[in-house]
Amino acid sequence: MSCYAALHPNARETDLFTLYPERPEDWWEVEALYDTCFAPGRTALSSYRLREDVLPVSGLCVVARDEAGILGAAIRYWPVLVGGAEVLLLGPIAVHPTAQGEGLGSSLIIDTLERASEAGHDRVLLVGDAPYYRRFGFNPLQGVIMPPPTNPERVLGASLTPQAWAGIKGTVERKA
Ligand SMILES: CC(C)(COP(=O)(O)OP(=O)(O)OC[C@H]1O[C@@H](n2cnc3c(N)ncnc32)[C@H](O)[C@@H]1OP(=O)(O)O)[C@@H](O)C(=O)NCCC(=O)NCCS
Repeated sequence: MSCYAALHPNARETDLFTLYPERPEDWWEVEALYDTCFAPGRTALSSYRLREDVLPVSGLCVVARDEAGILGAAIRYWPVLVGGAEVLLLGPIAVHPTAQGEGLGSSLIIDTLERASEAGHDRVLLVGDAPYYRRFGFNPLQGVIMPPPTNPERVLGASLTPQAWAGIKGTVERKA
């Protein structure tokens, strides 16, 4: 375990990176990573309207740092409502281009879904590529509508408890 990790009781290790719950002082570094990894104008996406003036879910937002403390990846979650039911909105997730394809994105998703499950959350929503997220238990959701413009085929959900999405339909709304 690195010295940095030893200071953080909730840290978990991968081969090259340690995963830590994001702290307030990490915020702008994480934003810069997202700017590096996504096309310009990312904040114009409709999913960002659901995050405006809402705090991310503490304890589920996680950063991955190497032994030198360099940020390699980050993931955040936001609370939203679908048909009145509480849902976690996963994203953004990004892995620095120099670390992509080595399992770090998978580690972050698996680690944070475990944390979400341990924290008692039932269901997770995201907008993304089904071929990537299927391996983590995400499938297209019927009748769950993201603010436009969103391709409905990219609206995916995962259950952390059995049948957690059964009967849950409607527009995704900000949880203010
Ligand atoms: C998408 C992302 C988070 C994946 O993290 P990663 O650490 O590179 O991915 P992993 O190493 O865990 O997984 C790699 C596998 O996922 C696949 N994969 C990665 N992105 C994919 C995508 N968009 N669609 C389908 N498969 C994808 C790779 O082909 C590879 O497959 P394999 O295991 O069969 O070889 C990362 O590439 C990234 O930050 N991309 C830019 C930002 C982005 O697109 N974020 C997601 C928005 S929905």
